[in-house]
Amino acid sequence: MLEVRQLHVSRGGKAVVHGFDLDVAAGEIVALLGPNGAGKSSIVLALAGAVARSQGRVRVHGTALEGLSPDAVRRAGLAIVPEGHHLLGSLSVHDNLRAAAMLLPAAEVEPAIARVLKILPELEAKLAQPGRTLSGGQKQMVCMAQALLARPKVLVVDELSLGLAPLVVRRLAEVVRRAAADGAAVLLIEQFTTLALSLANRACVLQRGRTVWSGGALALREQPEILHGSYLA
Ligand SMILES: Nc1ncnc2c1ncn2[C@@H]1O[C@H](COP(=O)(O)OP(=O)(O)O)[C@@H](O)[C@H]1O
Ligand SMILES: [Mg+2]
Repeated sequence: MLEVRQLHVSRGGKAVVHGFDLDVAAGEIVALLGPNGAGKSSIVLALAGAVARSQGRVRVHGTALEGLSPDAVRRAGLAIVPEGHHLLGSLSVHDNLRAAAMLLPAAEVEPAIARVLKILPELEAKLAQPGRTLSGGQKQMVCMAQALLARPKVLVVDELSLGLAPLVVRRLAEVVRRAAADGAAVLLIEQFTTLALSLANRACVLQRGRTVWSGGALALREQPEILHGSYLA
């Protein structure tokens, strides 16, 4: 499970997240919603160890992540699908997967790739293709596969569906559901709130780096004015 307490994040010397708290249990999907610039990606990068957490505590299954490098964070069981589905364009899909699997013992790399290809079989036919030749949706599938390689305890997806075609979004939604059903704690950042709230058990609305609402996903679906208020503010 993921436990975040009083997380503060600064970007370029400016405080952008001010005391963020969150718990995501194993098997649960929590949606993190909020307008552009609210601080969602800053939280994701701080969890990943990619930008400094100026204060606060993050635990994955009880392991404290303070001061850990991004690789050490991944080894502790937290995997990120970063915003923007970027791959190494000149490397094949297979090599992109191998690169992401480098934290595994060498003997486990190809079995782990075979396992994620069972989850995303549409990537099988793309393995030899350079990353840059893939569509946005295919790239996002590779990024999802990369995140799943090490069987993460916590999966954080930053903008699951942004810019992608509906068919591929449905597939990615299935994969997120399956990861949670297999026991991962999932934090889902998603612009398309209908999708987010159909997948999530709970939701949290962030505005200017602060939680302005949190509760059940169903309750938020029934009170759309909360989201409208937040997005217009
Ligand atoms: N690399 C950066 N340097 C400085 N400020 C940044 C950087 N990235 C984002 N910010 C600022 O941090 C705030 C939160 O941004 P971000 O976390 O990307 O929000 P969201 O993902 O919710 O759209 C914004 O005010 C944004 O301008
Ligand atoms: Mg963002």
